[in-house]
Amino acid sequence: MQHQKVLILDFGGQYNQLIARRVRELNVFCDLMPSDMSLEKIKEYNPIGIIFTGGPNSVYDEDSPKIDKGVFELGIPVLGICYGCQLMAYTLGGEVQRASTSEYGKAEVSYVSSHLTVDMPATAVCWMSHTDRITRLPEGFRMLAKSDNCPYAAFGDEERKLYGVQFHPEVNHTFKGTVILKNFLYNVCGAIGDWTMSNFVANSIASLKEKIGDKKVLCAMSGGVDSAVAATLIHKAVGDQLTCVFVDHGLLRKYEADEVMSVFKDGLGMNLIKADDGAIFLEKLKGVTDPETKRKIIGEQFIRSFEKQAKAIGKVDFLVQGTIYPDVIESGKGKSAVIKSHHNVGGLPSVVDFREIIEPLRDLFKDEVRKVGFELGLPKNVVMRQPFPGPGLAIRIMGEVTEEKLETLRDSDYILRDEIAKAGLDDKIWQYFTVITNSKTVGVQGDFRTYENVIAIRAVTSVDAMTADWARIPYDVLEKISTRIVNEVRHANRIVYDITSKPPATIEWE
Ligand code: XMP
Repeated sequence: MQHQKVLILDFGGQYNQLIARRVRELNVFCDLMPSDMSLEKIKEYNPIGIIFTGGPNSVYDEDSPKIDKGVFELGIPVLGICYGCQLMAYTLGGEVQRASTSEYGKAEVSYVSSHLTVDMPATAVCWMSHTDRITRLPEGFRMLAKSDNCPYAAFGDEERKLYGVQFHPEVNHTFKGTVILKNFLYNVCGAIGDWTMSNFVANSIASLKEKIGDKKVLCAMSGGVDSAVAATLIHKAVGDQLTCVFVDHGLLRKYEADEVMSVFKDGLGMNLIKADDGAIFLEKLKGVTDPETKRKIIGEQFIRSFEKQAKAIGKVDFLVQGTIYPDVIESGKGKSAVIKSHHNVGGLPSVVDFREIIEPLRDLFKDEVRKVGFELGLPKNVVMRQPFPGPGLAIRIMGEVTEEKLETLRDSDYILRDEIAKAGLDDKIWQYFTVITNSKTVGVQGDFRTYENVIAIRAVTSVDAMTADWARIPYDVLEKISTRIVNEVRHANRIVYDITSKPPATIEWE
């Protein structure tokens, strides 16, 4: 696949993946690689530009990451951000001073005109997060922005196309920060903007066709975005040579299994086999109350169910994995991805007779996967599906999983999702679902005393599920949800709202 590439060297800063996403959003492909990449490898990679990220170190720390001076002599434009700009200044003979106090947060900078600062206002707010500061620029450089605390908030040597910014253009708090990145990519590096999802789809289909030839491919379809998009891409490339197996463990949300079949089998004509094993899973979960035991049982049975189908299909050439770029970065720090250890698919390679793993989404961030999904014509409920745990509803039922509780949970969850969508909040909340607590309380419905389940509403905002805040759903929406659940759902007579963030709570209840 031929497209321009930008190389982002990772010095360990917290916003590094965000820099890469911003560059991609500006339609330029980039890779995040370890900062110790050799000069030879950098040349081989052949980037149109290089970005040094921020990082937690001081250039004076003994073990701080350094850079080969030769990188500035390759004739490739470089943009250093935060630690990256200090390292550039230090390596090229400028002066970086250790400071005792940090500058952290918003600061006002004044910009000077240059290729990097085109379309920037005379003064604007930016986001600073640093301790050391540059006090003298290397020869050939000039100041491009300054703030009260920072005499060289941005600087550059326009002849050599080397630039540095002390602040973080990638974060939203920096006013027009993406304009600075865009200027670097388009005005300095000569980007043409050839990284678009429609190009990606066209190129991927062509290269998948070539790679797969007339061979057989097997994919585990979970209903999640990654496997759905990966399978659709491969299906567009090789049609019926692809077989998908969908293990319905009976722990999905209301109508979800039918939707998977209707979109992929009926709609796209995919060769999709459904393993209808809900009864087996339920039998195995009988009497089990411990969350980790539930997870283990479901994970193991999932593999057994898949194995049964795979055996019937026989030897395949390729097994599809829905690995995406953050998995690649996490697992191999840019070098090579280890097989994703997601509980749903982690054990699959050992039970399937296959020749090679194929990972059509391994270059994409999650938001790019979603764009590809839309590009391929998949419906919004598939592409924008909220994260859903592999063990499904089993970990949203406290205590033993029974068919009756599953029905109560599915019906209440369906109402919650319906009202959240009607209120236009579905794009704003990361995850929202109901939980059957293992409490029962007394209620009065009609003229009767009831003794039924307490249902909890869990809704959180988050960016990566590592931390989460409880979502502030408006009271009137909560009221509608509560009223509908107690009126329409069997075995529910009280609704509570979970107002705990993560940490200390987790998103799921089990
Ligand atoms: P917690 O509950 O740990 O969840 O805050 C973080 C994210 O992970 C999802 N989750 C799981 N996903 N298998 C999965 O595939 C699991 O066992 C599992 N447990 C939690 C959860 O929905 C949230 O998005």
